[in-house]
Amino acid sequence: MTAINDVTDYALDGDVGVITLNSPPVNALSWRVRDGIALGVAHALADAAAKSIVLICDGRTFIAGADISELGGPQKGANLLEVMNGMEEATKPVVAAIHGTALGGGLEVALTCHYRVAVPSAKCGLPEVALGLLPGAGGTQRLPRIVGAERALELLTSGRHVPAKDCFAMGLIDELVEEGKLRDGAVAFARKIIAEGRPLKRVRDLSEKMEAARGHPEIFADFRKANVRKFRGFLAPEYNIRCVEAAVNLPFDEGIATERKLFMELITGPQSAAQRYAFFAERQANKIPDVPDDTPLIDVRSVGVIGAGTMGGGIAMNFVNVGIPVTLIEVKQEALDRGLGVIRKNYQRTAARGGITAADVETRMGLITSSLDINALGAVDMVIEAVFERMDIKKDIFGKLDAICKPGAILASNTSYLNVDEIAASTMRPEAVIGTHFFSPANVMKLLEIVRGAKTSKTVIATCMKLAKKINKVAALVGVCPGFVGNRMLSQRQREANALVMEGALPWDVDRVLYDFGFPMGPFAMSDLAGLDVGWSKETSTSSTLREVLCEMDRRGQKTGGGFYDYDDNRVARPSPVAEKIIQDFRIQAGVTPRAISDEEILERCLYPMVNEGAKILDEGMAIRASDVDVIWENGYGWPVYRGGPMFWGDQVGLGRILDKMKAWEGAMGEVYKPAARLERLVAEGKPLVGS
Ligand code: 3HC
Repeated sequence: MTAINDVTDYALDGDVGVITLNSPPVNALSWRVRDGIALGVAHALADAAAKSIVLICDGRTFIAGADISELGGPQKGANLLEVMNGMEEATKPVVAAIHGTALGGGLEVALTCHYRVAVPSAKCGLPEVALGLLPGAGGTQRLPRIVGAERALELLTSGRHVPAKDCFAMGLIDELVEEGKLRDGAVAFARKIIAEGRPLKRVRDLSEKMEAARGHPEIFADFRKANVRKFRGFLAPEYNIRCVEAAVNLPFDEGIATERKLFMELITGPQSAAQRYAFFAERQANKIPDVPDDTPLIDVRSVGVIGAGTMGGGIAMNFVNVGIPVTLIEVKQEALDRGLGVIRKNYQRTAARGGITAADVETRMGLITSSLDINALGAVDMVIEAVFERMDIKKDIFGKLDAICKPGAILASNTSYLNVDEIAASTMRPEAVIGTHFFSPANVMKLLEIVRGAKTSKTVIATCMKLAKKINKVAALVGVCPGFVGNRMLSQRQREANALVMEGALPWDVDRVLYDFGFPMGPFAMSDLAGLDVGWSKETSTSSTLREVLCEMDRRGQKTGGGFYDYDDNRVARPSPVAEKIIQDFRIQAGVTPRAISDEEILERCLYPMVNEGAKILDEGMAIRASDVDVIWENGYGWPVYRGGPMFWGDQVGLGRILDKMKAWEGAMGEVYKPAARLERLVAEGKPLVGS
């Protein structure tokens, strides 16, 4: 074996030269890896004994892409495009041997090899779009030449990781080799190529599929049309589409030039900066300063969920989806049956769309045991309580769990704002108690706010963080305060939205501004969707708020055909004259003369107080770092990821500007606008929130 550089080895296996990269954790294309490939290929070409070449990686994966932390920074080491050209032009066949995930630049490297083999568990993809980018190393030109324009559009704009078997079927992979025997399989394949005298296959030379798509602009028009909603606000999907158009319509080198130009535009723009920040923010959120990586974990093999309502059912699905059996508890058979019915229906809907098979539906349902007796939870490793948000009920349940559950079991509450320490105090084992705040619909939404109580053990925290990843959630650890991080900041926005309506804006003005900012919907449309009667009761209603009056009129949102908006049979919303009249009456009652409110003011009033609250949350230590707050807002509340979360966005707006506004509003409207100490300090120091 010859060391090529500190991350690359070369060895001769009979007549095959094997270049092995080893750059943990994911063999990303750092400058050392790029140098390693270039030098390794040169070495193999110079080795007269090597007739063909295999490029393979040690560790958990083939190259998982460009090194994202280097992107946008100064260039160092070998240029990736030149390294790739060197491989593609090589006079001996080069075979990429893929395991783990060949992603982004990793797949692009593989596409410049003459052949590709993979183990069945491998996956390939070009996920740059998720980073606000497009594949900038020839991927947009080579991928369509193999899979065709239509499929390339789908793969590039979804960033999907495609299983090796599907890659083989679409021609991305030339041969599947036995699991666990990648090196031997790749070497055998490389030898076979020589033995059979196969040509040096260069993807750039393939033209058939591009010619087939040429003269069919409707391929692109239809694709754009079908995805208008999905791509709204994002630049990268459109840029990826333009690259495929270039692949179809231009010679290869001109297509590459288009790709380069658009890539440079994206990588120097604000969206990609925000999306790359989000990538690292999500991973950073897993790191808890006082909970070391080697903290012992609890092996969670079974879970109990109390409450089979919308939340409980959704939570249960997360676990059975990954094969963890769930015991679902309810107080009444009827509620249990209804809950199980909803879960089954959800799975059936997924099956109908082709997401899972009919057999999967049965397997997953089979993993749920239901019971009306809480004593059935004696043997589970973790319980998640998802019942009505009332402290007395929660305390009662946790008192019972304390008596029932085995020692070492995790006792979690899905509360969205109640005091986890108070809940924990109803047990003799507060160290086992934690908050796991799922977001509705819990089987879909990515976020899990994990709430650390004063006495929660490190083992319980570490286990919940790991478990979140296992059930495909993005987790952030938060402290105990009303509403935790997400809902606490949301209440700022809600207060301002309501206040703006009293001052002269209309619900649809506020909604439109926030929708245009990039939220999936504004607060009033959201309330109509959720139901205005959540937490409302006829008996205690006093006509004192707009919401109460609407509920009293049986305008309870979408489900009753009206709320802030009127809805037609297809649930299409129109501004409601009824709601507008109620608003006007309220203003008259309060002696308010409505004023014209600009879109700019709506945005600032709704969002600056949120940034300010985020700073307070950091001051109080309720979130570990500013980027955790952003992770929460992007994954749980639809904050547009291309704007980087409220803390990142606040830095872009300028903290000085936000501070000035908060001070002005505090002077005019009172205490609730008081600037956070951190905001004042950071402005004085000229520092940003992120990293503070
Ligand atoms: N660059 C730098 N660091 C990376 C990285 C990359 N491409 N991919 C992963 N990492 C780091 C993570 O930050 C993390 O570091 P940490 O342990 O210090 O937090 C570590 O590798 C492990 O990552 P995960 O925790 O995400 O591990 P998983 O096993 O869950 O997932 C993965 C592995 C599927 C490879 C996932 O990390 C991933 O999706 N990575 C990004 C892939 C990607 O987007 N590639 C395209 C890059 S852009 C590009 O290639 C441009 C080109 O076209 C020019």
